[in-house]
Amino acid sequence: MDTALRAVVLGAGAGGGLPQWNCGCMNCRDARAGKIPGQTQSSLMVSADGETWVVLNASPDIRTQCAKQIQLAPDGLRGTSIKSVVLTNGDIDHIAGLLCLREKTAFTIFATRDILSILSENPVFSALDKDTVLRCEIKVGETFEAAPGIFLRAFYVPGKVPLFQEKGVVDTELISENTIGLMVNSGEKRLCYVPGCASIQTNLLQHLDKTDLLFFDGTLWSDTEMRTTRTGLKTGRHMGHIPISGPNGSLSAFTDFPNMRRAYIHINNTNPILQPSSPQRQTVEQAGWIVTQDGMEFRL
Ligand code: MLT
Ligand code: MN
Ligand code: ZN
Repeated sequence: MDTALRAVVLGAGAGGGLPQWNCGCMNCRDARAGKIPGQTQSSLMVSADGETWVVLNASPDIRTQCAKQIQLAPDGLRGTSIKSVVLTNGDIDHIAGLLCLREKTAFTIFATRDILSILSENPVFSALDKDTVLRCEIKVGETFEAAPGIFLRAFYVPGKVPLFQEKGVVDTELISENTIGLMVNSGEKRLCYVPGCASIQTNLLQHLDKTDLLFFDGTLWSDTEMRTTRTGLKTGRHMGHIPISGPNGSLSAFTDFPNMRRAYIHINNTNPILQPSSPQRQTVEQAGWIVTQDGMEFRL
């Protein structure tokens, strides 16, 4: 068997994707016109053998994402090579795709207790028959095997409750089971997946030791991007997403890990790094970051 840790970007975009249905920002217009590649919503799949896969977050675009990945096609009349789906938070871009996987084929959902409650409290998710689609609780800090040879360990990442659970003043740097990052190990290889992160704290940096590849929250270039593009009023931090640029941004945060490859994922449609010739794209690439796109494959 050909063993290696593989990762395929199913969706490099943030919630809404590129183009977003109701958005006329420059990036969305350019994506509609075919000038820049479109992006589906946030998801990554990983495998140790190329035969069985773990899907990290189930985006509402999962149906088209699966259709594009021949490795995910059923061997026989019905079936899947998706062993499990692991959720890092309860946002719609990460859970709604579960509803597209309801056709009575077995797999396991792994999520923290808080996120499993979102599924159990919302009757629409009972469309996933619990006898066929198992629900397994992730305990933060404990390793579990999500598919043959793929070992995962969750760690806390500052974030917030999902948008649809926000009430009153929202703690956007909550350390809780609402938001986790995932360490993915196979043999000697390790990648880390953190698609949503409000700020970088020492806890995260500790987990990056011996990490070969980091997929990190690339939602926004600047904290005020929604305002400057006139697409919204919220700041990045209010949405639980650290910006790339600025003194406390992610671009300058991982300098202690010179050998770790770094890739931005969960990129919002307003982000100027999506324009191949923008100065912001040049800045991130010169700093060694990869700007992910749908279908991009990594082999460690
Ligand atoms: C986010 O990442 O901030 C969410 O996807 C927002 C949303 O649910 O639309
Ligand atoms: Mn999101
Ligand atoms: Zn847009």
